[in-house]
Amino acid sequence: MNYGYFDEQTKEYVITRPDTPAPWANYLGSPEYGAIISNNAGGYSFVKSGANGRLIRYRFNAIHSDQPGRYIYIRDDESKDFWSGSWQPVGKSLETYESRCHHGTAYTKMVARYAKITSETLYYVPLGKTYEVWRTRITNQDTKPRHLSLFGYVEFTNDSNYEQDSVNLQYTQFITRTYFKKNKILQTINENVKEQINGSNAKERFFGVVGETVSHYDGDREVFVGRYRSYANPIAVEGGTCSDSLNFNGNSCGALQLTFTLAPGETKEVAFLLGAYGDEVASQLLASYENFELIQKEIEELKNYWHSKLNRFQIKTPDVAFNHMMNTWNAYQCFITFIWSRAASFQYCGLRNGYGYRDTVQDIQGIIHLEPDLALEKIRFMLSAQVDNGGGLPLVKFNHHAGHENTPDDPSYVAETGHPSYRADDALWLFPTVLKYINETGHIDFLDEVIVFANGGEATVYEHLKRAIDFSMKRLGAHGMPAGLHADWNDCLRMGKKGESTFVAFQLYYAMTILNKWAKDKQDITYSTYLTKQLAILHETLQNCWEDDQFIRGIKENGEVVGSKKDPEANLWLNPQSWAVISGCATKEQAQKALDKVYQKLNTPYGAVLLDPPYKEHAFDGALMLLFNASTKENGGIFSQSQGWIILAEALMGNGNRAFEYYQKCNPAQMNDQADIRQLEPYAHGQFIEGKRSPFHGRAHVHWLTGTASTVMVACVEGILGMRPQVDGLLISPSIPSDWKTFDITKTFRNKQLSMHFHNEEGHESGVQKIFLNGQLLKDNFVPVHLLEAENTLEIYM
Ligand code: NOJ
Repeated sequence: MNYGYFDEQTKEYVITRPDTPAPWANYLGSPEYGAIISNNAGGYSFVKSGANGRLIRYRFNAIHSDQPGRYIYIRDDESKDFWSGSWQPVGKSLETYESRCHHGTAYTKMVARYAKITSETLYYVPLGKTYEVWRTRITNQDTKPRHLSLFGYVEFTNDSNYEQDSVNLQYTQFITRTYFKKNKILQTINENVKEQINGSNAKERFFGVVGETVSHYDGDREVFVGRYRSYANPIAVEGGTCSDSLNFNGNSCGALQLTFTLAPGETKEVAFLLGAYGDEVASQLLASYENFELIQKEIEELKNYWHSKLNRFQIKTPDVAFNHMMNTWNAYQCFITFIWSRAASFQYCGLRNGYGYRDTVQDIQGIIHLEPDLALEKIRFMLSAQVDNGGGLPLVKFNHHAGHENTPDDPSYVAETGHPSYRADDALWLFPTVLKYINETGHIDFLDEVIVFANGGEATVYEHLKRAIDFSMKRLGAHGMPAGLHADWNDCLRMGKKGESTFVAFQLYYAMTILNKWAKDKQDITYSTYLTKQLAILHETLQNCWEDDQFIRGIKENGEVVGSKKDPEANLWLNPQSWAVISGCATKEQAQKALDKVYQKLNTPYGAVLLDPPYKEHAFDGALMLLFNASTKENGGIFSQSQGWIILAEALMGNGNRAFEYYQKCNPAQMNDQADIRQLEPYAHGQFIEGKRSPFHGRAHVHWLTGTASTVMVACVEGILGMRPQVDGLLISPSIPSDWKTFDITKTFRNKQLSMHFHNEEGHESGVQKIFLNGQLLKDNFVPVHLLEAENTLEIYM
């Protein structure tokens, strides 16, 4: 069963059946003014912070699922029938109600047709602006005039702090009120005091409309909805009139009723605006939209803005689902995770008031090939959140004050963030991220840029990276591998402060390899000699973690091995196998054996599980994944981010068929016709998919904000498609399904255009035989940057 389709031309996903298995969302705006909207107009908005700037309510996990939202109600004032511009909340029978939801790049358009009336509402946040616009067009498709009422509706929070608004009702019900002035509802919070209370950053809000005079309004939610009613049948809509109510000591809302008659074929166009502004600014904003041409202009701007980013890397392969994800949706999701981190979704309620170090450094990787300059800004930011001892701050506050931060060594940091200690892996993610940035741009001098440390002092990027190595080297466990500290990538794995993680050891190996190359380039001989020696030692140590055909997961503080093949449960873990390959530490033989083992034991129809069998009877104290049901999340679920690493590992080994097989299994678009199994949006990766021991094998969870976006993107771009930039050129080394006879890539590289046409008549999985650059035969599969012209054609033969 499918609920919609991809429109490659417009870069939209179009939902044709609104009764999707879960709310299928889109993101609008930016964290300055952010909005999330579902295909049924459910969702919420916030200013600057999901925690402290919440403007409108969304009830997470409620039985009236996916409510409330940005509602448009339409009422036929003659028949008294009413419906909504999105299928829900009124929920007319789908026999008579038709709808299309177009989720695009930072805009969503809902189109509905019912009772010979069509409505179209375009929701967006203008570029760089801090309010949202809903343009609604209602058209009479009937042969007679129609007398209609249109209601625009939002439910305001009573306090901008999400938690206060949700639970502290003895307080928040008594601090807010609403007013009506010139076509808009105005809401105030704590209006008797000037300053912000509890860090709240949206004390004044408005919801207004242009294009028609408001006939009636409600500012009191209970009056609009009515007693013992719901959003499916608000009394104001059913009864045909708002009551001109205002909230005082209750729940605020904005309901604006417009009443008009449409001749056959006639269209009424209005625009609702919502934002955190008082009367004066709100009036100015509304006035600026009196000319609706502004909306067209803004929407074009928005599309150009996003499409020009995405168009820097486009592909055309025989796999249409792959194309959709690479060309639009995976790329767009990478920007969303890059911008929003884990702040606000339908699972993240907005309370995480900062950037997770590892998450953000990973997220950057997904956009480097699309917008390296933006990536650079964030890399600098994350380096400024590195402590002078080399470790990363586990949580980087949104109001991070580089050079002046406390660290996990300070009780105040621990109290404020809830992070009791450093994590073993955080700063090690900097290496692949900085490497990818430098290789994409050639900006090797970045290593010499001076950046402050989180807690004061400054050093070059090169020195920052040295300290990250140092951080691990000073915290080695008894066997010479990095100690797990509080945790490694796996939030649920506590092997003890001095317990050792092979995953982190492989990361360290990779990090030292990267830095060693730069040390040699810089003629930093002493340091390079040191790294070469440490690499050899770590290599040997990791050899002791090899058990015939697999690497173990780690060694606990008390010396017990985790992830040994002898263990009754969790006796094979995915990440150490993939990272053994990615890091370059595994021998060729080990790499192939470990990958084969994963393929035999962990692979399922929906991807490779994180470990198997899941913990149940034999977990150790620090195996916190035991808290989860079997085959769920870290307890043997198909962790989607880890699919990226296994794809990359297979691709690096030249196993194109397997790399793509893993990709297809976790590709959301591949499940478009089985949406009832996967349930999440077919255009966005989720955090995990239920594994083989779940009764709902294949069901995905925790949409949008996940490291999967960037990790799978890197696996596809570098691994499958083989785009492997180096400082002085582009190495091309695809690992593809052998039945692809031909495919194309266009890429902007160092401000030059590359049109690549791949030929694979002989059906190879990997290996490039020859490349013609602008007609000239190159000596191997490396395209030197100095040979590039403004526009380039590459014919690549595999
Ligand atoms: C989600 C967290 O955001 C991420 O930091 C972590 O690596 C994964 N879970 C795996 O535990």
